[in-house]
Amino acid sequence: MILVAGSANLDFVVRAAHIPAAGETVLGHAFNTYPGGKGANQAVACARTGGAITHMLLAVGQDDHAQPLLDSLNAANVTLNTVLTPDVATGCAFICVADNAENAITVAPGANLTLAPEHLPDLNGFSHLLMQLETPMHTVTAYALAARAQGVKVALNAAPAQALPPEFLAAVDMLIVNEGELAAVVPHPGSLMGNLAQIAVPCVVVTLGPRGCAARLDKHFFTLPAFAVEAVDTTGAGDTFCGVLVAALDQGADITQAMQRASAAAALACTQPGAQSSIPTAQALSKFLATQPGPSDDNITALRAYCGLD
Ligand code: RIB
Repeated sequence: MILVAGSANLDFVVRAAHIPAAGETVLGHAFNTYPGGKGANQAVACARTGGAITHMLLAVGQDDHAQPLLDSLNAANVTLNTVLTPDVATGCAFICVADNAENAITVAPGANLTLAPEHLPDLNGFSHLLMQLETPMHTVTAYALAARAQGVKVALNAAPAQALPPEFLAAVDMLIVNEGELAAVVPHPGSLMGNLAQIAVPCVVVTLGPRGCAARLDKHFFTLPAFAVEAVDTTGAGDTFCGVLVAALDQGADITQAMQRASAAAALACTQPGAQSSIPTAQALSKFLATQPGPSDDNITALRAYCGLD
């Protein structure tokens, strides 16, 4: 059983030919709102794709933006532990998705910043705690220390990128980052695998976009090229990866099996618009995996070289 503690945002999304540069105005096309927030996206991925019994601790305001977020989590079968903040607005994210599927995101965290150490529920029965960094650092640190003290495995998606206090990192069992986030937590950057080796956490997984992903578990390194898809919107793909990875580990998968499921689910998430709206069902993931050829030798070689393994 997994507890996700983290953010929930209503995403205001506009598609445009490209993401505006500083000072530039771009005329976009379609506008939509979607349930999002890294925490809520990861909870939906754990439950919907990963099939894990999933609870989520979140904070929302008492406003019109909260209900679509609670509805989406409920529809995915996530059990909610909700902190209501009457005086603080529900978190929002303002997202531009470019025609090449990349995005730029600005978050107004609102109620997410009210999540406090005293809100942590009883951890009895949970195997994993999954967190991100859209809630206060002192709160996630306190949650990690409490989980570690009770033998609950702590998985941290260190996003958005920021440096981590050593006492926090010391309570983390698994760190999941992209390359930018990895750079923020590594003291002396070098090769990718060298960077993974520098982090004092038993397991570090790095997502590498269309190249794939890599991991270090204790002293062992693993790589997996990405699944090829036609991407329309990469929003939430990293969250899908995190949720499915932790759900697979929770169900007894080893790290390579978990990386494969997470990577395939993240690829599928890139083929649909929105964050939670793009997270595949378990059935869609199984069907996709059944039709995929294994990675080519060229892609394996290129990824290992990129990581500094060969
Ligand atoms: O990772 C994607 C998410 O980041 C979006 O859903 C947005 O709400 C921000 O939290």
